[in-house]
Amino acid sequence: MADKFNEELYDPVPLKKFDPEKELVADLYLKIDSKYLKYRHKGDAITSEKYDLFLSKSVAEVYFLKEVVQEVLSWLDATKEEAISEMVEKVGEENRELVEAREEIKEIIYETFADEELNSRAVEVLQHQSKEFIAMASEDKVNKAIIAKLTKFNSSVADHSVNTANVAIYIAMCCGFGAQYDLENIYMGALLHDYGKAKIPANILENKTNVRYSQAIQDHPNKGVGMIKKMKNIPEEVQMIVAQHHEQYNGSGFPSGLKGDGIYKFAMIVSMANIFNNIIEEELPKKGISEPNVEVYRKAIKVIEYDKGKQFNPEFIERTCDGLKLAFGNYQK
Ligand SMILES: [Fe+2]
Repeated sequence: MADKFNEELYDPVPLKKFDPEKELVADLYLKIDSKYLKYRHKGDAITSEKYDLFLSKSVAEVYFLKEVVQEVLSWLDATKEEAISEMVEKVGEENRELVEAREEIKEIIYETFADEELNSRAVEVLQHQSKEFIAMASEDKVNKAIIAKLTKFNSSVADHSVNTANVAIYIAMCCGFGAQYDLENIYMGALLHDYGKAKIPANILENKTNVRYSQAIQDHPNKGVGMIKKMKNIPEEVQMIVAQHHEQYNGSGFPSGLKGDGIYKFAMIVSMANIFNNIIEEELPKKGISEPNVEVYRKAIKVIEYDKGKQFNPEFIERTCDGLKLAFGNYQK
């Protein structure tokens, strides 16, 4: 058995490189109090839940025995390539750059969220990548519906953030908001919307039936914005999106119970994208599928379509639903 204390036996691998739910090709170790402890066996997977727990505990690296680390790295590269190819198949070879940029952003999100505190360097990198992504996505040659399809479903906070950001800028464009500055803010706001949730302490996250968990959920928009406010370079518009992404048009949302036009319009757009993705994420395991089918998309669109100004600003509903139906084609089948 490998010596638990011998540093020379182990090599670190950044956790951001792993996708949840993939079977590991080697035993995985965690470093706890300078001891290397076997955490998962070869053939096991890191579940989405555990992945989020790592974020909450600010775990940035996992370890493998030196003799297998090359094999692990090649496997990770192959897994990433496979994920990119699958998405390229969905959105077309001409959009490969966007797909690669999406993967890149997901890794940066993991890195940013796994830091114990939000730091300005990480935020700068995220802002830079977001700007590049928006610039690419805004090019005339890009079919805008493609943006909403750059999604990869599992229930980890990192993928959820990127999915929400992509659907949000698509919805924004459908609703007539095309200015770079607005799209960049919507994108950043959506990427960071659940930062406060990612930072719910692990002991609370591990027991979701506890009242402290529901309290933490109620508090996560404020907690997130409190952390984000410390960064001088994050625009106020982004902060407002994070603070208000669970507010509802009829005033029954949280944390402030804001109402009607009192809710920032771009927070409303992120909220629609968030709910759309949440419904898909909830439906997939119920149906035992990993990719949404027409039925799942239809259900998610219906929730928004039939809202009639309860959660969402009615001003945006029609154009949002038309856009989503267009993006998720075959809708009539
Ligand atoms: Fe949230």
